[in-house]
Amino acid sequence: MSDDGYVLGYSEAEHRRLRAQARLLQPWTESFFRSGGLREGMTVLDLGAGAGDVSMAAADIVGAAGHVVGVDRDARSVERATRRAQEAGYSGRVEFRTAALDDFDADTRFDAIVGRYILLYLPDPGKTLRRLTRLLRTGGVVIFHEIDMTEAQPTWPACDVWDDSYRLVAEVFRAGGAQPGFGRRLHPTFVDAGLPAPEIQSFTPVGAGSESMIVDWLAMSLLSLEPALTATGLTLPAGLSYDDSLGDRLGAALDEQGSQIVGPAQFGAWTHTTESSSFR
Ligand SMILES: C[S@@+](CC[C@H](N)C(=O)[O-])C[C@H]1O[C@@H](n2cnc3c(N)ncnc32)[C@H](O)[C@@H]1O
Repeated sequence: MSDDGYVLGYSEAEHRRLRAQARLLQPWTESFFRSGGLREGMTVLDLGAGAGDVSMAAADIVGAAGHVVGVDRDARSVERATRRAQEAGYSGRVEFRTAALDDFDADTRFDAIVGRYILLYLPDPGKTLRRLTRLLRTGGVVIFHEIDMTEAQPTWPACDVWDDSYRLVAEVFRAGGAQPGFGRRLHPTFVDAGLPAPEIQSFTPVGAGSESMIVDWLAMSLLSLEPALTATGLTLPAGLSYDDSLGDRLGAALDEQGSQIVGPAQFGAWTHTTESSSFR
C-alpha cells in the first residue's frame, strides 16, 4: 500500500496494469464520454488521471482545438503520464498536474469534468464533486465511469478459487476506505454534489475459462493489491501465490469447472450543469 493509503499503490507493475486495463475499458469510457456530450474543441478536467489513459482518450475526442488537464495526487504518476502523452504526440494538448482533488484549483473554466475509477476512492465524493464542478462553465458536462466489484457469486458453475479471489478485491478496497460497489451510488452522489440527476448506463463484461481477459485483470489487480492484502491480513486461496503463475492458476481453476464468469460491472453517468447548479 502507498504512503497516502491508496490501496493499489503506484508501482511500475500497477502502471502496467492500468495500461492493460485501459485497453479493456476504452470502448466503454469512450461511449460514456460521447453519450455524455464530450465534443470537439472542449476543455476538459480529468480527475485521478493515473497513467494518463483517460486524459488521452478525452483528447482524441476533443481534438486539436480542445485541451485536457489531468490531475493526480501522485507525482510519479503525473511524471509517467506526462512522458507517455509526449511520446504519443499529445504535447500542448494534454497536461498533467500534481494535486489532491480537494486542493486543486484553476483560474480558467472547463467545458467538461470527467474521470474513471476515481470517485470510489474519495472519502466524500459528493462534496469533492460539488467544489470541483464550480470550475465548469454553465452548461458544462460531468461524466464519470465507475465500477462495481461486489458480485457475490461471479462464476457458474461455482468456481470457489475464483469467487474467493474475486471477493478479496472488494474486501481490501473496503478495508482501505474505498467503495468497491461505487457504480451503484452514482445517482445519489451527483445529486449530493448539487448536480442535475445523471443519465446512467451499465455494461457487464462476461467471459468463460482461462482465455477470458477478465482472468488477467483479476490476476494483475491481486498482484498490485498484495501489500494492502497482506497488511489487512487477507490471504489468497490455497494453491495461489503472488507471482507470474497467478493468472494461469486462476484460469486453470475456471477451466476445471467449465465456469462462466461475470466480471466487474461498468457504470457511466453524465449530466450537465445548469444556471442553478453552477452557483451552488
Ligand atoms: C484506479 S486509478 C485510475 C486512473 C485513471 N483514471 C484510469 O482509469 O486509468 C485512480 C487514480 O486516482 C488517484 N487518486 C485517488 N484519490 C485521489 C485524490 N484524492 N486526489 C487526486 N488523485 C487521487 C490515484 O493516485 C490514482 O492514480
